[in-house]
Amino acid sequence: MDKFVIGGGRKLYGSVRAQSAKNSVLPLLAASILTENTVVIRETPPITDVASMAEILRGLGAEVRFCGEDVVIDSAHAANHSIPSSLTRELRSSVFMLGSLLSRFHRAACAYPGGCDIGLRPIDLHLNALKRLGVKIRERDGFIACECETLRGNEIVLDFPSVGATENILLAAVKAEGTTVLYGAAKEPEIVDLQNFLNAMGARVQGAGTDVIGIEGVKCLRGVEYTPVKDRIEAGSFLIACAICGGEIEVSGVDGKSLGLLLHKLRENGCKIHTKNDKIKITSGGRLKCNRRIETMPYPGFPTDLQAQVTALNAGASGDSLIVENLFETRYKYVPELIKMGADIEVRGRNAFVRGVGKLHGATVSCGDLRGGAALILAALGAEGVSEVLDLSHVDRGYAGFERKLAALGADIRRVRI
Ligand code: EPZ
Repeated sequence: MDKFVIGGGRKLYGSVRAQSAKNSVLPLLAASILTENTVVIRETPPITDVASMAEILRGLGAEVRFCGEDVVIDSAHAANHSIPSSLTRELRSSVFMLGSLLSRFHRAACAYPGGCDIGLRPIDLHLNALKRLGVKIRERDGFIACECETLRGNEIVLDFPSVGATENILLAAVKAEGTTVLYGAAKEPEIVDLQNFLNAMGARVQGAGTDVIGIEGVKCLRGVEYTPVKDRIEAGSFLIACAICGGEIEVSGVDGKSLGLLLHKLRENGCKIHTKNDKIKITSGGRLKCNRRIETMPYPGFPTDLQAQVTALNAGASGDSLIVENLFETRYKYVPELIKMGADIEVRGRNAFVRGVGKLHGATVSCGDLRGGAALILAALGAEGVSEVLDLSHVDRGYAGFERKLAALGADIRRVRI
């Protein structure tokens, strides 16, 4: 078990390069078993979600090696189509393995991923879409068993632009017989990255980034070496850290457009933002005005994965703010921890009513999930006094070397083993 000890009040200066996107690397690892040839994914962040996905691939019989930051996957001898429940629980997003297992083996089985700390997270959209491609699905005692004679292209309509369901459909349709047209697709940059990865393997996918994606099934896919898109949520977390602490930093590797409304909201807080190609520079005096309202929406709206971080920013700003979380039912579990730091926030359902108190104070707080944990760290960096942030395993799932990168920007933060 580790904790962070953070001395608040330091301004941040310097530059930081974003890691490869966790939410792109995970579907790319799932896609790697679509070919029996070797796949290399470069610059993969050393985060525990990647390690969990590597375990899932090994459990299927694939050989997975880490060479520095590159991951080399050789699934020629993969023969198992079932994912153990321990790993499905560990990594909910493993559910999009169903699509690639069905493409490879025409069979797939996994435990029902179940809910987690941010919501119920059902998978009805995934399963209904797979049925449209000819998959028979049995659900019993918390297990899902899928099988099909063959995968047949079809028209699919998603009632909600689910990221995971969109990825599952691409993975299942890419080697199906005939063409699939997906309406109502998620438009996140990570979907575009998956399309580029699959097409580099010889697939015929087009339209990612819009709400209509066409997938023309091909017979087989070749190996590939690929560098994923950078992590816009990690980049946004650093920008919010600088807004809260004050100072001036430049984040590189991410296009400002991929951050949805974040840059517009940071300007509303009183920060200066300058973007050029894949560089984003932020300057902040540290004394911020609250955002009147922030609503999370599917891309290109405000990212739900930055909701906790901007709530922490508003908690220590001046004025009032209404945060509305439209994607997940219970994505405010970090709020009681912020209140220990002096925040004045009232949560009612999907709404968080924030009264900015100008400055938070240090406290001992615990992470309950990945992005809520990041929010507590950012709040502690800007607070008066010393904080201790416990249960870092949640943060280590998605942020590689978070404390090292923040300390390099001037933060007083160190990891202590307890
Ligand atoms: C992906 O999760 C991301 N995870 C999440 O990031 C992100 O918050 C989310 O997309 C939204 O952007 C990965 O990419 C690994 P969804 P996913 O399916 O695919 C409902 C992080 O912090 N829904 O777009 O699970 C669901 O309950 C993580 O990095 C259904 O109702 O998200 C939720 O309310 C957290 N039925 C909404 O859609 C379904 O079959 C959005 O879910 C599927 C989803």
